[in-house]
Amino acid sequence: MRTDSPQTIYRKDYTPPSYLVETVELGFDLDPARTIVANRITLRHNPEAAQDHRDIVLHGEDIELVALRLNGTELNPGQYIVGTSTLTIKKAPLNVVLEIETTCAPEQNTTLSGLYVSNNSFYTQCEAEGFRRITYFPDRPDVMAKFTVMLRADKQKYPVLLSNGNLVEEGDLDNGRHYAKWEDPFKKPSYLFALVAARLVCQEETFRLADGRNALLQVWVEEGNLDKTDYAMQSLKNSIRWDEERWGLELDLDRFMIVAVGDFNMGAMENKGLNIFNTKFVLANPATATDVDFAGIEAVVGHEYFHNWTGNRVTCRDWFQLSLKEGLTVFRDQEFSADMIGTDSGRAVTRIDQVRTLRQAQFPEDAGPMAHPVRPDSFVEINNFYTVTVYEKGAEVVRMYQTLLGRDAFRKGMDLYFERHDGQAVTCDDFRAAMASAAGRDLAQFERWYSQAGTPIVTASGTYDEEAQRYTLTLAQRCPPTPGQAEKLPFHIPVAVGLLDAKGRDLALNGEGDTTVVLELTEAEQTFTFDAIAELPVPSLLRDFSAPVVLEYPYTDEELLHLFRHDSDPVNRWEAGQRLAMARLLRLTAAVQNGEKLELDYTFIAAQRALLVDETLEAAFREQALILPSESLIADQMEAVDPQAIHTARRFMRETIAKVLRNELQNAVAANATPGPYSPDAVSAGKRGLKNLALSYLLAAPDDFTLDLATRQVAEATNMTDRAAALVALIHSGADVEAQLQSFYDEFKGEALVVDKWFAMQASAPTTDVARIRELMTHPAFTLKTPNRARSLIFNFTNANPSQFHAPDGSGYEFWAEHVIKLDALNPQVAARLARSMDRWRRYLPDLQPHMRRALETVAAAPKLSNDVMEVISKALA
Ligand code: ARG
Ligand code: ZN
Repeated sequence: MRTDSPQTIYRKDYTPPSYLVETVELGFDLDPARTIVANRITLRHNPEAAQDHRDIVLHGEDIELVALRLNGTELNPGQYIVGTSTLTIKKAPLNVVLEIETTCAPEQNTTLSGLYVSNNSFYTQCEAEGFRRITYFPDRPDVMAKFTVMLRADKQKYPVLLSNGNLVEEGDLDNGRHYAKWEDPFKKPSYLFALVAARLVCQEETFRLADGRNALLQVWVEEGNLDKTDYAMQSLKNSIRWDEERWGLELDLDRFMIVAVGDFNMGAMENKGLNIFNTKFVLANPATATDVDFAGIEAVVGHEYFHNWTGNRVTCRDWFQLSLKEGLTVFRDQEFSADMIGTDSGRAVTRIDQVRTLRQAQFPEDAGPMAHPVRPDSFVEINNFYTVTVYEKGAEVVRMYQTLLGRDAFRKGMDLYFERHDGQAVTCDDFRAAMASAAGRDLAQFERWYSQAGTPIVTASGTYDEEAQRYTLTLAQRCPPTPGQAEKLPFHIPVAVGLLDAKGRDLALNGEGDTTVVLELTEAEQTFTFDAIAELPVPSLLRDFSAPVVLEYPYTDEELLHLFRHDSDPVNRWEAGQRLAMARLLRLTAAVQNGEKLELDYTFIAAQRALLVDETLEAAFREQALILPSESLIADQMEAVDPQAIHTARRFMRETIAKVLRNELQNAVAANATPGPYSPDAVSAGKRGLKNLALSYLLAAPDDFTLDLATRQVAEATNMTDRAAALVALIHSGADVEAQLQSFYDEFKGEALVVDKWFAMQASAPTTDVARIRELMTHPAFTLKTPNRARSLIFNFTNANPSQFHAPDGSGYEFWAEHVIKLDALNPQVAARLARSMDRWRRYLPDLQPHMRRALETVAAAPKLSNDVMEVISKALA
């Protein structure tokens, strides 16, 4: 809660810590109402700080100080200064042992930051600044120390006691209590501390590492969930192997644990040796989890495991460098998922997914009031900067090094990065310097990807000189202003290019016969020439999405159709289809607004048909190519966003396709059945994806046959993917699904993650209005306290149901304001995420904006707003 006015913290103000911590010994007497924490730290003056800077600054929040001793002597309140979130000891000696006793109340902690209780067990979340909610400590990532942890708790209630590193001792105590002592052999920053005291069971396995050592792997879950841990365990083993093989990085611990918890703010956390996960990214079996869930588990298990090197062994100097670990680790988990599929087309499908996420979430962020560079210059609340920009755009920045330098040089750069910085807390500049040295290249200009916010726009134009057999491509770049950055300097942009001939074949672009070359655009405008080009080509630009930019090229429909049919680069093939669809969706939206007749040209539908029936293409790719741009992507292309018109236009387009391609869609449903036992592999998942997409198209123009088809699928499906997809398609069709929803709920009411799906599928259906959402909130299974549940209903309404959320009377916005305020009193991090649903309010129709402004002002005027929400709202209103 806010106790004083929010302070902005600036990157430029960084100073090294005055004291370093050598060792930390923590003792916990765990009690939900009042936990006692005894903390003994040895500090020594930092030789890199000014010699006369002798203040020890400890952070602390929401904890009670019971006792404080310095080198054995009790300090009284006159000898230290307690601020709102610090404790300062002035003029300290060079070497100090502090003994600090504090208490906290885990069961009262609804923020889920620090030490908290979930389903009667204890868990922690310390990134970014949660450790200070456990004890007083220099809670900053450049202070790395060795931790020893003693846990004491009731044995009956908390049979499992876990912390980082190795278990060195355990035993019984009086009064039915027991203890466990853990020692982490590695130095770590406080944000990587974790403990778990819980009633849990585990799946475990001994795994042989590349160097012959054995490691104990464990996946801990609540009783009754052991039937849902196989995939997480398999993903963990795959991650370990992959990191060894692709990067030469080994697990450095004898024991590696994953713990699943139902109340968790984010996806998961990479605490050293003790990763704590949202249950959503651990628990899965065919009956409860979808293909998307399985893929999410693989990615997040990988992500957290990969942090062990990129994040833990080498960590961040300060939180402005967050992308140093997150961008790099997202890149690594993306590559892991792609390598697990193994085929080029499978890889392309994962890439298409990444591009979609960027456009859907990151480009809007980069164009809105919260826009920030990959390495931000300032923040009020760091938790607001765990963003798609820091994560996904950060991953694109890492990917661009690989594209510019080539895979081998990139790998050398990674090796050098670890060689130089293992055990250190470093900056994004250090990473870039390692890449530059290893590759022997000047990457000075590349720094702008870290310092400048906004999505660059690259415009391309080509001319062909038949006589000279020369194709000339001109590329220009600009970047729109973002808050605090009016002018931008040119970026260093890798633009991968291919040229197609009239038959759709790739032309050789140079003497080596390369058919894709990476052009380096470094100036505001540059011209590139290709010789020995025998005919007027169609350019395939930004292949594999080689940079996170918007590409403008005046493609004709004919050129796009040519690329959609023939481009050897699957990402650009998909892209051509998206461009064709987007142009039509925008025209249809305008037609809706003008009350004109809606029409869809046959050329487009014929192209869709050809792709749909092309058996030489993987189902997963066909699915991607047939998904129309979402309503929010269409919105991004409009001057004044009209959610109702967009919705009507997109609906019309789907309905028209469904009617014209009815036979082909029905065939796709039949031809892509996956009989036999469920497997989440990419080929099977791709088939289900295409089949269920076809089904949802069919239900855009429902008749008895298709309604029956979907109804039977809901009843007969043996896996959640098929079952949920059919139910969602039915809900969206407007069919009466009351009974089916009820029986779905009855069957799965004991499975929290499936109940989340149940809420989510209703919240995001265009048939669900705000009144119905309010009704659903009174359902006994609904609670605001569990983030997954709150998100399933509220976020899916505000973020995934635009035509209802933007109801013309503003009722959706009122609902939003009410719940930002309610959530903020419980959990500021979750509330601040919801607050962001209104980021781009100035882009909507003039009729909607006053309602939106009023809702924002309602939140801004609420008493006791958290810094988290305050920062988001004040930036939106600025
Ligand atoms: N480092 C974690 C991950 O990306 C995310 C934890 C963020 N938590 C937070 N409260 N900001 O794997
Ligand atoms: Zn991460």
